[in-house]
Amino acid sequence: MHFEVWARGLGALGAECLVVGVFEDGELAEEALAIDSATEGRLKKVVSRGDLSGRAGETLLLTDLPGIEASRVLLTGLGSRKSYGRKPWRRALTSALAAISRTRISSIAIALDRPGARELDDYYFGRAVAELSAASLYRVNDLKSSKKPKAPALQTVLAGPVRKAGIQAAERGLVHGEAIAAAAAVQRDLANLPANLCTPSYLAEQARALAKQHASLKVQVLDEPAIRREKMGCLLAVAQGSHQAPRFIVLEHKGGKANSPPVVLVGKGVTFDSGGISLKDPPGMDEMKFDMSGAAAVIASLSLAARLRLPMRVIGLVAAVENMPSGQAVKPGDIATSASGQTVEILNTDAEGRLILSDALHYSRRFNPAVVVDIATLTGACVVALGHHHAGVMGNDDRLVRELVEAGARADDRAWQLPLTEEYGEQLKSNFADFANVAGREGGAITAAAFLGKFTQGLKWAHLDVAGTAYQSGAQKGSTGRPTPLLADFLIRRAGL
Ligand code: BES
Ligand code: MN
Ligand code: ZN
Repeated sequence: MHFEVWARGLGALGAECLVVGVFEDGELAEEALAIDSATEGRLKKVVSRGDLSGRAGETLLLTDLPGIEASRVLLTGLGSRKSYGRKPWRRALTSALAAISRTRISSIAIALDRPGARELDDYYFGRAVAELSAASLYRVNDLKSSKKPKAPALQTVLAGPVRKAGIQAAERGLVHGEAIAAAAAVQRDLANLPANLCTPSYLAEQARALAKQHASLKVQVLDEPAIRREKMGCLLAVAQGSHQAPRFIVLEHKGGKANSPPVVLVGKGVTFDSGGISLKDPPGMDEMKFDMSGAAAVIASLSLAARLRLPMRVIGLVAAVENMPSGQAVKPGDIATSASGQTVEILNTDAEGRLILSDALHYSRRFNPAVVVDIATLTGACVVALGHHHAGVMGNDDRLVRELVEAGARADDRAWQLPLTEEYGEQLKSNFADFANVAGREGGAITAAAFLGKFTQGLKWAHLDVAGTAYQSGAQKGSTGRPTPLLADFLIRRAGL
């Protein structure tokens, strides 16, 4: 896609379609007013006839208006003027882009009323425009045998108006926004793929392929014997029930100084979570193909670090396994020894994510990390606590947790802190091992994090539970690409870009 900033003279821009806004009371937004006068009052006429109410998300395509270069104008509802801001702007832009993607329009000029600079400065304006535009072209990599519908025609997006002083920042935003959308698409493609194709070894191949594309990326894949040599007993316990062999992927972006403490991202890569011997209920079990969304977000974030050449070291660790019941599967009551040497009584084989993460988190120590962030579709309890709007964040370092929450807010990929205090860890007592892998229903998202906390002592660590946000159910079933935008903002900020 091609992105540019425009400063003034909307009517004379060479775009096929101008995207302008109307408020709920029928009032035209600033740029729409200019187009209205240029077109002999056509926009006001349409609105006064009641063909568009201005409710947020509504759109109406007008063609062949006199007095302007563009062959189309897309009127877009902005909602009420009083509550107008960043969120309604995003909503309006998203519906405008959806409407555009159903047409053969190949170039647009976005001229919706811009929210105040305090809510959306030039950089974030450019970023959101590029991110949302590129995301509007995303199509699920389905395996339908019917012919694919034509790809959307949109190729060029002009974003404005931007004052002269803000052009550089907005252009930087455009570059970053396109990279974020591309990274989110990497996550979505991996996560949407069914578990018979997206296996642990497939994830490893994809990491290898990515590393081939970028000089800054280096990859190392541990196969089962190598994992055994690392004594990752918890990861192996989960993997042992499946015919699919596990993989442990180490993907490094070599930016910044060679031996500087890296940011380490750790992803849960359960390519299918049947629950194992503690088998899940059938309804919705297909969605457990998304249980590698954390891993996909890590691979996506590394692709972003490489694409933007972030001047910092970033290391992605992916624990990839399939969780299946079988005659060889791990059983409730079995005790595994983690790479850290701590023993775990596996009371529920469906609490497998924390098992594989415990070994992956321990592995991060060898890099002397600045911070470690794990990303996992870890608990149904997190979905109960926060629904589908916020990811859960917990950790042992409040500054790091705050950094992630703020990154999520800026990226419109929000996360909310849950209280990880000592009491929760006490619920993991076992009579037979150092601790159990489950602690009852209450506070399940937090006790899962408390389990991880047993393996991250002395590290600056945070945990993102994305069980409720990484994918959607229902008619729009599929990966959302979250929390890749959050992680992208986190990395971009840390890199000082
Ligand atoms: N992958 C699931 C968590 C999950 C649930 C993700 C719903 C997305 C949607 C995880 O491995 C799991 O099964 N967790 C159990 C833990 C329990 C056994 C303590 C859960 O949440 O029920
Ligand atoms: Mn599970
Ligand atoms: Zn799981």
